[in-house]
Amino acid sequence: MADKKAQLIIEGAAPIDLPVYSGTMGPDVVDVRALGSSGYFTFDPGFMATSSCESKITYIDGDKGILLHRGYPIEQLAEKSDFLETCYLLLKGELPDAEQKSKFVETVQKHTMVHEQLKNFLNGFRRDAHPMAVMCGIVGALSAFYHDSLDINDAKHREVSAIRLIAKMPTIAAMVYKYSKGEPVIYPRNDLSYSENFLHMMFNTPCEEKKISPVLARAMDRIFVLHADHEQNASTSTVRLAGSSGANPFACIAAGIAALWGPAHGGANEAVLRMLDEIGDVSNIEKFIAKAKDKDDPFKLMGFGHRVYKNFDPRAKVMKQTCDEVLGELGINDPQLELAMKLEEIARNDPYFVERNLYPNVDFYSGIILKAIGIPTEMFTVIFAAGRTPGWIAHWNEMISGPYKIGRPRQLYTGYPQRDYPSK
Ligand code: CMC
Repeated sequence: MADKKAQLIIEGAAPIDLPVYSGTMGPDVVDVRALGSSGYFTFDPGFMATSSCESKITYIDGDKGILLHRGYPIEQLAEKSDFLETCYLLLKGELPDAEQKSKFVETVQKHTMVHEQLKNFLNGFRRDAHPMAVMCGIVGALSAFYHDSLDINDAKHREVSAIRLIAKMPTIAAMVYKYSKGEPVIYPRNDLSYSENFLHMMFNTPCEEKKISPVLARAMDRIFVLHADHEQNASTSTVRLAGSSGANPFACIAAGIAALWGPAHGGANEAVLRMLDEIGDVSNIEKFIAKAKDKDDPFKLMGFGHRVYKNFDPRAKVMKQTCDEVLGELGINDPQLELAMKLEEIARNDPYFVERNLYPNVDFYSGIILKAIGIPTEMFTVIFAAGRTPGWIAHWNEMISGPYKIGRPRQLYTGYPQRDYPSK
């Protein structure tokens, strides 16, 4: 089945033939699975050149700044689609027709409520806990409430779990926020769109139900679409790895949430806003650029750089455009936007950033829009998690639906050789 062959020549050993496969697009891959039986492992910390799986969901060309979901460019999905349609596309492989779409929306809406007892969980957390800490716990706890859909070998169970996760994630996110504020939880309303409903649960109270602004709902929906999937990133790979042991989908998504939390990944959106706060004024930019370039200083320009995109992040382009639209429509003149744009301009003309191909990523402008919508900074990564849920679950389902093996990497051991326990 190999498209080509590679030969690995190691000094003093017989050449090893390795099959080479071609995908639809992207670099060919050398299948190194047989190497182990020849007494060698590959060594690739950080997975700089490792394809961990075969997938049909998302394609990225980092040099050209291309991101496709099931073949459709992210720019077109952001403009013409909506979040639930994108979820359908990721999960099922094709865009739905009108009837399939309304059935899918209806099914998701049937699952927006969470088990009433799940609310009790919140009481165990401090109100000033970081919302991502609470999310890890509550999403993991879903497997204690939805036993009836935990058979990972049953396609129907997998589908119900996927729908439950997509439907309940905004409800849980809003619950976590309300708990942090000491306000009563607001129940979902199924006459609203996915994003309107999320904003309703976030910002309405039992005493006052305001109409959700269509501008904000559209911006929220676009943010969800832009985060929906991103190939084999750290959190998606975590979900796949956890899933490869046969763990249930709720536990796997909780693992994904934990991996997303770090500032090098989804935690960057929160870190960008904190960084802009810290910079404070355009006159301080040079000082922070110097810190980012100083190898003895741990400070990095948050929202800059990407493992895969070495030219531009197509999501950042759409995000910046959305940011302009939202602030324009709301008549907000946010000085942080001006600061961010100036920072981007200076960094993009600085040889350090140019030589290393460091460009703004999706997280650079998302915080400014989220802030304009009224979302507090510590909730930013939770929004990323809600948006990424269909991607996580689509990858998990793709893996479980086909032949797969438990993910079990090996290592280059550099510790002590065997030695005897000292006699006393
Ligand atoms: N500020 C300053 N220097 C940087 C930055 C940055 N944001 N990002 C990378 N570099 C430097 C890095 O120090 C290294 O320099 P040198 O070659 O001299 O040692 C070089 O650029 C290559 O960086 P790397 O860390 O080897 O690249 P990576 O692919 O391992 O890391 C990254 C990618 C996104 C983790 C990193 O660029 C970073 O930490 N960026 C800031 C955090 C951030 O914005 N993360 C969001 C990523 S997009 C959202 C998502 O999908 O999660």
